[in-house]
Amino acid sequence: MNYSALIQNRKSVRAFIEKAVCTSELESIKEYYSKSVKRLFPEYKTELLVLGTEAREALEGAAGYSSYLVGAPHYLVLLSEKAEYAVENAGYIMEDLVIKLADLNLDSCWLTFTESEKVKKAIGVESELEVAAIVAFGYGVKTTKRLRLNIQSMSNVDITAQRHYVDPKLGINDMVFMNSWGNSEGVEEYIGFFDDMLWEAFYAATLAPSYLNRQAYGFVISNGRITLISKPDEYNTELDSKLNFGIVLLHFTAIAQGWAPTIKWEFGGEPSFQLPEGYKVVASCSL
Ligand SMILES: Cc1cc2nc3c(=O)[nH]c(=O)nc-3n(C[C@H](O)[C@H](O)[C@H](O)COP(=O)(O)O)c2cc1C
Repeated sequence: MNYSALIQNRKSVRAFIEKAVCTSELESIKEYYSKSVKRLFPEYKTELLVLGTEAREALEGAAGYSSYLVGAPHYLVLLSEKAEYAVENAGYIMEDLVIKLADLNLDSCWLTFTESEKVKKAIGVESELEVAAIVAFGYGVKTTKRLRLNIQSMSNVDITAQRHYVDPKLGINDMVFMNSWGNSEGVEEYIGFFDDMLWEAFYAATLAPSYLNRQAYGFVISNGRITLISKPDEYNTELDSKLNFGIVLLHFTAIAQGWAPTIKWEFGGEPSFQLPEGYKVVASCSL
């Protein structure tokens, strides 16, 4: 897959035509998941459910901002065993599937949820695994009018049709720092040393979908290591934050693996880099 192009073209789509995706494409999603999907913790047990339009009614009230379900002909539900960093792993896996969907010219939208049990009950799944990630997908309505998020508050997310192309994103300058949080000096020189490759990986990270488009994270480069930092954010739930971390790591890694194939993220770490209060180290890797 051409991750760079696919990541640049991906966007959340919230209006779908009532047409089922053909069986061969559904099969290639399943095959990609079982044979090739990228994982942070390959040893964790996961299971992918590819659901049809029957799931739509079932998921109503169980998934989506303010329980507004994005109606779609299909949904991906990723189940995972409970373990430390299992949700980050699920975010990473599901975002790779989102990119695969884009590769198949299918549109998609991540969906939030709060209770695994409620979702399992709604879709009639009996499993010891937990629901860890949900994405709606299908063929997006071709229109210049898109459903735009107007986030008034956590409990008042208005989704209205407007002329709208992409949700605005933070630039690399606001997301990547050198040695200490907030310090941009030296970032360009460091990134420049790797020609365009490191820049492309960070650019891909800035384009990652995130809960309510909050992008509550950033990176610090120090001593040849890249560290993902979480920013405190009153809107993000713990589950959505962890999914966001997995998603942004997938974007960075999918591009960086083009020239650094052995990248391995180590989770946790002591607070350093003069992080402001409430900021935390999520994971780091060396180049
Ligand atoms: C964990 C997560 C949960 C999300 N939940 C929803 C949701 O329930 N409903 C929705 O319309 N969009 C949802 N989104 C999509 C985000 O709003 C979207 O990614 C963000 O606004 C950025 O827009 P983009 O994906 O077009 O770049 C979610 C995204 C993430 C990462």
